Amino acid sequence: MFETLPGFRDFPPEACSRRNHLFRVFRTVARAFDFKEYDAPILEPLDLYVEKSGAEIVGQLFHFMDKGDRPVALRPELTPSLARMVAAQGNSLPKPIKWFNLGEHFRYERPQKGRGRSFYQFNADLLGEINVSADAELIGLLVAIFETLGMSSNDFRIRLSDRATWVSLLNGLGVSEQALPAVLNAIDKSGRRKPEQTMESLNEAIPDQGESLWQEIQNIKKIDSLDALAKRLGTLGSEADALIHQWEEMLSFLSAHGAKEYISIDLSIVRGLAYYTGFVYEAFEASGEGRALAGGGRYDHLVQKLSGNVDIPACGFAIGDMTLSDCLESKGLLPNYVLAPDLYLVCGEEQKKSGISLVSVARKGGFSTSYSFKMVGFGKQFKEAGKSGARYALILGTEEADSKRVKVKDLRTGAEEVISQNSLVEKLEEFDATGGITT
Ligand code: HAM
Repeated sequence: MFETLPGFRDFPPEACSRRNHLFRVFRTVARAFDFKEYDAPILEPLDLYVEKSGAEIVGQLFHFMDKGDRPVALRPELTPSLARMVAAQGNSLPKPIKWFNLGEHFRYERPQKGRGRSFYQFNADLLGEINVSADAELIGLLVAIFETLGMSSNDFRIRLSDRATWVSLLNGLGVSEQALPAVLNAIDKSGRRKPEQTMESLNEAIPDQGESLWQEIQNIKKIDSLDALAKRLGTLGSEADALIHQWEEMLSFLSAHGAKEYISIDLSIVRGLAYYTGFVYEAFEASGEGRALAGGGRYDHLVQKLSGNVDIPACGFAIGDMTLSDCLESKGLLPNYVLAPDLYLVCGEEQKKSGISLVSVARKGGFSTSYSFKMVGFGKQFKEAGKSGARYALILGTEEADSKRVKVKDLRTGAEEVISQNSLVEKLEEFDATGGITT
């Protein structure tokens, strides 16, 4: 017996219809925000991720040499492909660019609850706009998606932080530009590691200052309000004023989107990806338990890094399907889709072929229709019709066939009506509109 590889999932129809429910909501709400769907390759040059995504993701890559001796990787995330695509079209794309994607991603992580080696992400990104209203538009979209899925402020929270604020504070503590990526990476991991490990990483980045830096970082990580932030930034003068102004702008735009009630200011978020430059956020189940449902932020220099010359500011986020469906399931918010046909044909052996022709008419008219492939008696066919969950049985015996008619039985009410075969679709639409066949 073969099994799926660890961390990979099969999607039998039930699971697939649940996944499609999420996808439908993602697409509908993204379109309401006027985001356009795009796609990119699943296999990319390995170099696209090295240095651009940060050490953590690079360590989790599925990568190999292809038959042309090219180092390639299955995409662990979409942002570098998007930046590449936008950079290639340079300044010819009308701005702002508001694009979304639904696709599979691969990371060689230890499989655990909410974490797989293959998972789906909904990515939404807005490029070409430096104003914070773009960041707020994305958080507005994230909130609208979660609300459409049935979640309220009792169910999820978005923890909001700002890399620019972190960079100013760290500069103020004497951390050089060069040491910043390693220090930010250590801060990102600090929530999941022992303090000694974090101090060791900080000492590697800034020799002999790991311990004192760690004390300061711990205090900054605890900042959870604008007041506390303003107090901490106080020493930085006009730089502080500009940062606080950005925060205020962000929060008032979020209010306008109806998203403010979901926001917690939380400087403990810095994000693991190397390219973020501004506001960053992660969404969690309200209790804070479990892995993030979504994460994102501003990444103003990635397009330029990949293109060398095209400079386009950008921000975006991704929602993962695994943590989200676990979360919705635990709250009873994942509908159980019944994958039933609308109609089931029940016919005599002689009428099988004319029955299939009738089935074709119903299908072309938009009614999902099944029938038994084996020649079995009427009783057994009715049983199968019941098992299939169909709403109506189309009954075609000698009498109906001879008079070019068909009997439609409402399997919910038991009521029947004999109709002309010519008016099948029209009558079925009528039954649907009036809630079934009544006697
Ligand atoms: P990320 O935080 O690495 O961000 O991933 C976003 C979401 O994808 C996570 O919150 C989680 O729900 C899901 N996810 C990540 N890894 C796994 C995994 N191994 N198994 C299951 N789910 C997972 C990014 O990927 C950024 N590229 C998002 C972004 C778009 N930033 C700007 N634009």
